[in-house]
Amino acid sequence: MKKRLEQLRKDALAAFEKATDPASIQKLETQFLGRKAELAKLSKEMKALASAERPLVGKLINDIKKDISDIIQKKKSVSKSGTQSSVAFDHTLPGITPVVGHVHPIIQFLEKIEDIFTTMGYEVVEGPELETQEYNFDLLNVPEDHPSRDIQDTFYVDKNDKRGRPLVLRTHTSPVQIRAMKTRKPPVRLLVPGRVFRNERTDAGHESTFYQCEALVIDRGIRVTDLIGTLELFLKRLYGEDVKIRVRPHFYPFTEPSMDVDMSCLLCGGSGCVFCKQSGWIETLGAGMVHPHVLVNMKVDPKKYSGFAFGLGIDRLMMLYYGVDDIRLSYSGDLRFIEQF
Ligand code: DAH
Repeated sequence: MKKRLEQLRKDALAAFEKATDPASIQKLETQFLGRKAELAKLSKEMKALASAERPLVGKLINDIKKDISDIIQKKKSVSKSGTQSSVAFDHTLPGITPVVGHVHPIIQFLEKIEDIFTTMGYEVVEGPELETQEYNFDLLNVPEDHPSRDIQDTFYVDKNDKRGRPLVLRTHTSPVQIRAMKTRKPPVRLLVPGRVFRNERTDAGHESTFYQCEALVIDRGIRVTDLIGTLELFLKRLYGEDVKIRVRPHFYPFTEPSMDVDMSCLLCGGSGCVFCKQSGWIETLGAGMVHPHVLVNMKVDPKKYSGFAFGLGIDRLMMLYYGVDDIRLSYSGDLRFIEQF
């Protein structure tokens, strides 16, 4: 019996010596110390021994159990500290730089525009992207039969306003003129950047979602020359002193007179190229003197006050500024594009 026990101790220690991972240590523990282990069987057989021998064998069995327990403890602590050291924090290693995003090129460009206008005393105001037809059209003097109200031009939403008419994804930033004037009195100088929506067939120059920046100035004695002067100053500050502007008569329901303003093509300097369709000019914005009906809708007396307004298409100006040739890149979510700014 003593021989079998000594052999068992040898076998156990040899087996544990080889084991390194927690799973195999666990397995050996069951094999040597478990209820069905050889050692347990031998303990039971002790009863059959002569009484003189029993204490000696009992002690030997206890010694072997202790040896095995000791080696298990040792092994367990080694395997634990082994895993610990592999994940230990090494202060000398270079850190992992977290990926930090940045402002989208459209918004970066909008911020440049805001800077120019805020130094001229303008206040930046925002409004909702989901509008009522009243603000988007009615109060801006846009008649019921205007094509911009057409279901094919515009996105209506499956939700009605208080008057039971479907809400509309705003087609321009102009409704914010009216909203802002609910809580203001002239004189005002407002700048309204924002996202607008139209049912466009997308191509390199058109998107169904794009940005505009609206301006509204109301004061006593505001004239069309104030409007043109402001626009010229703004475009020169943005693109440089060489920029020229051109004003063409146009029609907008919310202004009278209305105009479209072009600037000289930055790529060819006005001599004509593919970008400006050989005209030397780039269509930049719509503008005009605020229509008296619209002033009345703002609760402003047209006899005392006059004002100008304009709406800039931000995307195309941004493309010109950075040299981007496809409007869709801005909204593609493609980091290869975004990270260039
Ligand atoms: N809202 C017009 C559009 O989206 C742009 C515009 C034209 C805005 C003339 C104005 C304006 O404020 O006076 O096409």
